[in-house]
Amino acid sequence: MPSAHYRPLLEKRLQTEFNDDDEDGDDEDAEEYEYIGTSSSTSTSNNNNCQQQQQQQGPQQQHFHNHLQPQFNKPKICYDYYETSAKGTPVLKSTANAMVRHGRYKRLLVVLLLALPLLCFAYYLLYPDTRLGANDAEREFDPHVGTDSSGARVLNETLNICSESDEDRRLYIQDKQIDAYVQLPVIYFVTPTYPRREQIPELTRLAYTLMHVARLHWIVANDHDTCTQYLIELLLRFGIPYTHLASPMPSKFRNNKPAPRGVANRRAALQWLRQRNITNGILYFGDDDNTYDLKLFSEIRETQRVSMFPVGLIADYAVSGPVVCKGKVVAFLDSWVADRRWPVDMAGFAVNLAYMAQYPNANMPYKPGYEEDLFLRSIGLRMDQIEPRGSNCTEILVWHTQTKNKKAPTVRFSREYLDERSNLGALFEVLQRMGVAHTSENEGVKAQLSKNGKVKPHSYFLS
Ligand SMILES: *[C@@H]1O[C@H](CO)[C@@H](O)[C@H](O)[C@H]1NC(C)=O
Repeated sequence: MPSAHYRPLLEKRLQTEFNDDDEDGDDEDAEEYEYIGTSSSTSTSNNNNCQQQQQQQGPQQQHFHNHLQPQFNKPKICYDYYETSAKGTPVLKSTANAMVRHGRYKRLLVVLLLALPLLCFAYYLLYPDTRLGANDAEREFDPHVGTDSSGARVLNETLNICSESDEDRRLYIQDKQIDAYVQLPVIYFVTPTYPRREQIPELTRLAYTLMHVARLHWIVANDHDTCTQYLIELLLRFGIPYTHLASPMPSKFRNNKPAPRGVANRRAALQWLRQRNITNGILYFGDDDNTYDLKLFSEIRETQRVSMFPVGLIADYAVSGPVVCKGKVVAFLDSWVADRRWPVDMAGFAVNLAYMAQYPNANMPYKPGYEEDLFLRSIGLRMDQIEPRGSNCTEILVWHTQTKNKKAPTVRFSREYLDERSNLGALFEVLQRMGVAHTSENEGVKAQLSKNGKVKPHSYFLS
């Protein structure tokens, strides 16, 4: 089922090359960015624009001034201000007054911002129960979208188990007897699906891939009110251990544009795992229309916490995935950043269930476009924990196949950044050889690399 990339651009956030040196992108910084960005982008009157220009005094503003691309901060109007000021007209006076007033508000804001951590600290001292240690990300974003663990009832979510089997009826898998694999951790392969013309052919094609994968439990969650008899019969045929759920999208979301497709299904699968108290194995969200290389399964089976890898045929670059330097994930390549800390596709990561068990509130929100990001935040992921797979993210082991005839994109990259410092050179060489995407120095869509939801120049990561 198409996941992240049917997304329209929900919010066109300011995407500027904001070159701060902040390592973990904490939220103070985000607030500062937000505040400045908002004030400048909403300024309409001349006065406001002039204040904007004049504000570049403090160290923070200086910083902002130096690094933000000037696209929305044209000083043009402020030349008017200087001209006016030379003439000494009353306009200048009122502008100056406005500036003084604005200065006061700014100081007040700074004081408030400084007081905030103190208040938080006091709150912590008063209510020690709220200390959750590693669960920072959880408090930051509620993946339940305003509901708690009983949210299933609020949202009227249902979990119907239509049919299931723990029995593996395959005798041989990839030329080995099935007993040869008993030591391997189980991969819980979660496939959201919904009734449509292509549903059965897509599931059939996927099943014939999964039949080659040992120690796999296939969770097929159908976006339908009732159990579908045809699916019950189909899934039984393959001999793979499976669970067939009916997990309809709550009615309140059905008329949303875009609707959060696949979310109720994945949430139902997470609930099923929790109900069974399954805290061993690997979780992977695999849509029914993707193409999977069998190597993907041996790669994700090694996942200790969270592993990531590139997904082919995603959005403008025909690829989305981590940027890897010296075996470590340092940034992300994805044409739609939109403030996402983890701008990855649903098929681009796998999670160890023992790791996920530390986050009992892990869940996926009903927020189209942000499902992956907020899910990964709900399990407290940190950049240094990510395990890059597929030869340090140079191989494409999963494709977001869509039966659409799209042109191979040209992605603009400076040659100097396609060397061996990161995976990007090798990755785009293979994409070029496969005819999936091309690179160019001066043509095509510019490649954006981001960290903590902020686009930064290539030199920032690949100096
Ligand atoms: C990934 O890169 C690191 C550092 O360069 C290297 O030690 C490691 O062998 C690489 N892993 C693979 C699977 O290529």
